[in-house]
Amino acid sequence: MSIIRDASLSAEGIKKIDWVRGYMPILDEIEKEFSVTKPFSGVRIAMSIHLEAKTARFAHMLKMAGAEVFASGCNSLSTKDDVCAGLDSLGIEVNAVHGCSDREYYDHLKTTLSHKPDVIVDDGGDFIKLLHEECPEYGANLIGGCEETTTGINRLKAMERAGILRYPMIDVNDANSKHLFDNRYGTGQSVMDGIMNATNVLIAGKNLVVAGYGWCGRGIAMRAKGMGARVIVTEVDEFKALEASMDGFTVMKMSEAAELGDIFVTATGCKDVIVKEHFLKMKNGAILANAGHFNVEVDVKGLEEISAEKKNVRPYIDGYLLLNGRRINLLSEGKLVNITASNGHPADIMDMSFSIQALSCLYMAKNGKKLSPGLYATPEEIDRKVAQIKLRSMGVGMDELSESQKKYLNLI
Ligand SMILES: NC(=O)c1ccc[n+]([C@@H]2O[C@H](COP(=O)([O-])OP(=O)(O)OC[C@H]3O[C@@H](n4cnc5c(N)ncnc54)[C@H](O)[C@@H]3O)[C@@H](O)[C@H]2O)c1
Repeated sequence: MSIIRDASLSAEGIKKIDWVRGYMPILDEIEKEFSVTKPFSGVRIAMSIHLEAKTARFAHMLKMAGAEVFASGCNSLSTKDDVCAGLDSLGIEVNAVHGCSDREYYDHLKTTLSHKPDVIVDDGGDFIKLLHEECPEYGANLIGGCEETTTGINRLKAMERAGILRYPMIDVNDANSKHLFDNRYGTGQSVMDGIMNATNVLIAGKNLVVAGYGWCGRGIAMRAKGMGARVIVTEVDEFKALEASMDGFTVMKMSEAAELGDIFVTATGCKDVIVKEHFLKMKNGAILANAGHFNVEVDVKGLEEISAEKKNVRPYIDGYLLLNGRRINLLSEGKLVNITASNGHPADIMDMSFSIQALSCLYMAKNGKKLSPGLYATPEEIDRKVAQIKLRSMGVGMDELSESQKKYLNLI
């Protein structure tokens, strides 16, 4: 029995799921095979994931492959109630409500975990945290799982280092078919989409500050430049700072960029990237958005402390009137702007990421009992298989090494 906002929204949700399906050919190809062979028969999969149309398509594909699937969100603002209703009508238990309180959010995750899954799909590490801290009993049947995003991987690495990680987990984010495309092109496009959708302002001619020049930051900087923004990058890693500089961007400290920026986007996975001293230097009307997994990159509490007034000025935008008389506009409460204020990553991108996840779940279901607790790379054959199907679906051909070339390159 699902916990969702309104089951009567299901027709709208199904329409959205059907639309994205048309742009997810890799999952289709995998489903064609798996709906006959049913490799997930008898496997219970729990998902904590941004619950919108693309993830719903992924969950449904797992069900068609024989799994019993239970789904929760991984951020209440990204949960789409109509899609949850659609997924529920497809026979998948969903526990997620858009905009619910933090307490309800964690209760929903626990309800999903209470089915004692064999495999988990985690995005950001909330499942793994609950299974280790609050409800270890729900891990009774758990073989292992996979984690989707950089922030969740950082959590897992810390747990592994401390010797407390109890399950084998696959680092899906590390797959080439994931971070090269999802973090870069997916985030790049959808973050600009989110900012434009929320604000309706022109990008061309603006100073756009990107904090963090990792996979996501590179994508955002590239797209913003393409739209005519003057892009400034801030970094803490000397190689990334050099790379951004040689890619043609202006690199400086946030304390300097704060005075210049019209639009700020954080994509670091770190906390307190934009804080009080920066807010106080910003221009009147500056726009702040976050693309990192948690809403800790912009110090929202600090912003409130130096504000005389806060009011909702448009959907997705809180306007803060600072004590110095300037106004700062914060998008989506500092939460992921691309998933809250836009439709998230394009379907074609998530097709790649979820195909990696689906095949990694199967790998874990089949091999996980032989693995000791720890973080594992995505098996290379899975990564390559997804890239090959994607190329085929795009009609893109490529050369193959001959036997003599392989020998020359010492590959055989
Ligand atoms: N919005 C999305 O849809 C989406 C998609 C993928 C990943 N993410 C999240 O985005 C964040 C970044 O992911 P990534 O894959 O780009 O990670 P990454 O590790 O490739 O890049 C992060 C970069 O930020 C830099 N950095 C760290 N702290 C900093 C600071 N205080 N100031 C300036 N730079 C700093 C690091 O040096 C690094 O270059 C993570 O939280 C990840 O989970 C979001």
